[in-house]
Amino acid sequence: MIWTREIEHKNKYPNANVISLGIGDTTEPLPDVVALSMANYARKLSTPKGYRGYGAEQGCKALRKAIAETVYKDIGIKDSEVFVSDGAQGDICRLQLLFGSNMSVAVQDPTFPAYVDSSVIIGQTGDVNRESGSYQKIEYMACGPHNSFFPDLSKTGRTDIIFFCSPNNPTGHAASFEQLEQLVQFAQENGSIIVYDSAYAVYIKDGRPRSIYEVPGARKVAIEVSSFSKIAGFTGVRLGWTVVPEELLYSNGFPVIKDYNRVVCTCFNGASRISQAGGLACLSSEGFKAVLSLVDYYKENAEILLETFKSVGLRAYGGENAPYLWVHFPGSNSWDVFNEILEKTHIITVPGSGFGPAGKEFIRVTAFGHRENILEASKRLRSFLS
Ligand SMILES: Cc1ncc(COP(=O)(O)O)c(C=O)c1O
Repeated sequence: MIWTREIEHKNKYPNANVISLGIGDTTEPLPDVVALSMANYARKLSTPKGYRGYGAEQGCKALRKAIAETVYKDIGIKDSEVFVSDGAQGDICRLQLLFGSNMSVAVQDPTFPAYVDSSVIIGQTGDVNRESGSYQKIEYMACGPHNSFFPDLSKTGRTDIIFFCSPNNPTGHAASFEQLEQLVQFAQENGSIIVYDSAYAVYIKDGRPRSIYEVPGARKVAIEVSSFSKIAGFTGVRLGWTVVPEELLYSNGFPVIKDYNRVVCTCFNGASRISQAGGLACLSSEGFKAVLSLVDYYKENAEILLETFKSVGLRAYGGENAPYLWVHFPGSNSWDVFNEILEKTHIITVPGSGFGPAGKEFIRVTAFGHRENILEASKRLRSFLS
């Protein structure tokens, strides 16, 4: 485990300035306009007039509308199709509860671990292969430099559910319109549901789709989960959403949105009203400008790190449309690379094998961090790797 290695390392070198480029957690303070709106909302709760108890399980109407109109501008998502939540991770698990144990699942390899772990918990998988870490009954769709980080769908087996994350954590790859078109067509042909995770969509800067619903036909085959965590530094505040379009139907014609509504009302009593006030502030014109400048800050960090790896002749992917870099160390084992970098530079990364069998020669590096730490890490990495 990375935590264990980090603690061991800090015990061994108590005076070392250890820099974490490991866990993908935001580091910069919230914009004032966002923090103030939450503070004001909390203050109002202490007055008889302003006090409120439970809210709608699906989220407050104003925020559902703001998400539909701001994030999905010109895409035609209705506010009634947006379910506000306490974050994408919880939504992934609530979706798994909706699907149940009899569903077959496909994931990108490498992948954000929550899709696989929730499949294991709900009982969709078979035994684990201890050596590769892969589970029986999961369809692993290999994504790497050899296939432009998009699976060869002609070799992908049919599954009921396809988890697809773009921009991808950990590879940082954002799928092109043509790639997503292929994915939607594949789902249509197979009667599969795509669970599209767009938690990092706001990092896309080169015109690639920020939502699966930009692809015609996606409303009939895709659910989208997303989050304020990496848009606005809400990893601790907790706020996200899921879109379930009305046209998404089971094979017997029953709308999935009705079942999802039932799951949300049963397993979740609504996102915090204070967080939702913060979410609304993020989507106001002043708030949106402020959160985008935070995103730009992390993107500049990513550019510094990308340049660092390129300057020492390593192939680093991602970092352009995402706050993650996926660095290739051909022929090596990702845990050995992780350990060596930690030992020699006091920098924590993440071994790629933790994201699936295809990650065994890679490490993931995050661009979330204070600028001075990113610059110091860049200096140490250049000197160690060159
Ligand atoms: C791809 C992806 N989806 C979902 C999440 C979880 O987001 P949240 O903080 O909204 O639960 C993360 C967090 O790192 C993530 O990387």
